[in-house]
Amino acid sequence: MKERILIVDDEEDLTLGYSKCLAKVGYETKTANSGEDAIVMLREEIFDLIFLDIRLPKMDGLEVLKKALEMDPDLIVVMMTAHGTVESAVEAMRIGAHHYLMKGFDHEELRIVAKKALEVNQLKREVSHLKLKDSRRYPDTAIFGNSPNMKKVKDLIKVVATTPKTSVLIQGESGTGKELVAWAVHNWSARSEKAMIPINCSAIPEALMESELFGFEKGAFTDAKTMKKGVFELAHGGTIFLDEISSMSPNLQPKLLRVVETQSFRRIGGVSDIKINVRIIAATNQDLMQCIKDGTFREDLYYRLKVLEIVIPPLKERVEDIVPIAKLFIDQNNREFSKKIKGISEEAERLLKSYHWPGNVRELKNIIERATILCQDEIIQIEHLAIELQNVPTQESIPAAAVTSNVVISEEPVSLQEIEKRHIIKTLEKVNGNKSKAARILEISRSTLREKLKQYGIA
Ligand SMILES: Nc1ncnc2c1ncn2[C@@H]1O[C@H](COP(=O)(O)OP(=O)(O)OP(=O)(O)O)[C@@H](O)[C@H]1O
Ligand SMILES: [Mg+2]
Repeated sequence: MKERILIVDDEEDLTLGYSKCLAKVGYETKTANSGEDAIVMLREEIFDLIFLDIRLPKMDGLEVLKKALEMDPDLIVVMMTAHGTVESAVEAMRIGAHHYLMKGFDHEELRIVAKKALEVNQLKREVSHLKLKDSRRYPDTAIFGNSPNMKKVKDLIKVVATTPKTSVLIQGESGTGKELVAWAVHNWSARSEKAMIPINCSAIPEALMESELFGFEKGAFTDAKTMKKGVFELAHGGTIFLDEISSMSPNLQPKLLRVVETQSFRRIGGVSDIKINVRIIAATNQDLMQCIKDGTFREDLYYRLKVLEIVIPPLKERVEDIVPIAKLFIDQNNREFSKKIKGISEEAERLLKSYHWPGNVRELKNIIERATILCQDEIIQIEHLAIELQNVPTQESIPAAAVTSNVVISEEPVSLQEIEKRHIIKTLEKVNGNKSKAARILEISRSTLREKLKQYGIA
């Protein structure tokens, strides 16, 4: 991939000259002739390097520099200065510019500085990549929330991670973070260098599940033209995450029990046992005791799996976590949607804290995503929060005026379908026609959205 350079100078001839010179040696270049234009371009595209004139009309170079670094602190900026602006150049370095060039430089100098600066950029990226990789091992950075309830969970994860082989059962309502916790157990364990393979027991048809888990020998059945390894074999040395374990078919449960007990299994059609070393993490949002009573889950398997048990409390039992997690999602959304939302109004915070969150953290994530998109300024207000949340009777009373939804569109009598149609159009407008994003916000699948667009004749 070509490295991308932005050149900012109010003199068009100069920018074109520099641009040509850099393009000749293989960089992709763009030019801007004002600070304002540069900021717009930086918001919309990713550049590896900027050459920035210090003296610009209206928004000057230093201001552009500050704004640019606010958007991306890792951005590499080389200032271009003329005689008499050396002091500003020093100031620019203090703000965070990488280097400066005295005007009058020749093309060779420009190319050398570009090359050196881009090497720094490459290094910076590698470092942040390593940091990212590293942060996945430490609980406090990945799992948000420091409420007493969540602290207990995190402490437990750390302990569980240090045990090498013992099975783990993660229980919690839907959306509480079971998958996240499973990854934490794996990533903070000595197995993190090896893979964790997730298998969703409710998503794979029963007929395929056995071969998925255990693999098969060539000729085991008509379609078995070659030997195929199952996930237990592939995850050797690492972890297997059996999500929604309550959906595992009764036929397979004894076979899983055998793996847990003996750390060995047999491929379908195989004649010998294969020894493995895997940790099994299972998760469920069902009450497994009830499943045992109903006869759909084996009691012996249950006790084997829950040697170590992590129970994640529902979000309403850790109210202190709601706002910090919401802010995490705001940061993520700011990046994804190029927004600059700074926070949540006091009223909106109060509403978030008093809601009962049946969909837990996942619901919070969806509601914040929607709010980030609807919010046109810096603070998320109560009216940006979804309707279902606003209409819920809360422990604290919310001012009546604040409860009016901006989603209900019309006073005139209209059909439910008409409201749905208008809401879909409105949502599509908010996300600039991006159907995937719209579907996510509307919490329907993309194919459902497509059908509805067809039904309502929306182009
Ligand atoms: N404490 C937390 N800090 C940060 N993000 C979280 C936290 N808990 C959950 N999340 C995020 O919320 C979303 C839902 O979490 P996850 O998928 O792990 O839940 P789950 O319990 O597996 O849900 P389900 O039962 O629906 O499968 C994910 O995007 C996850 O990253
Ligand atoms: Mg899950």
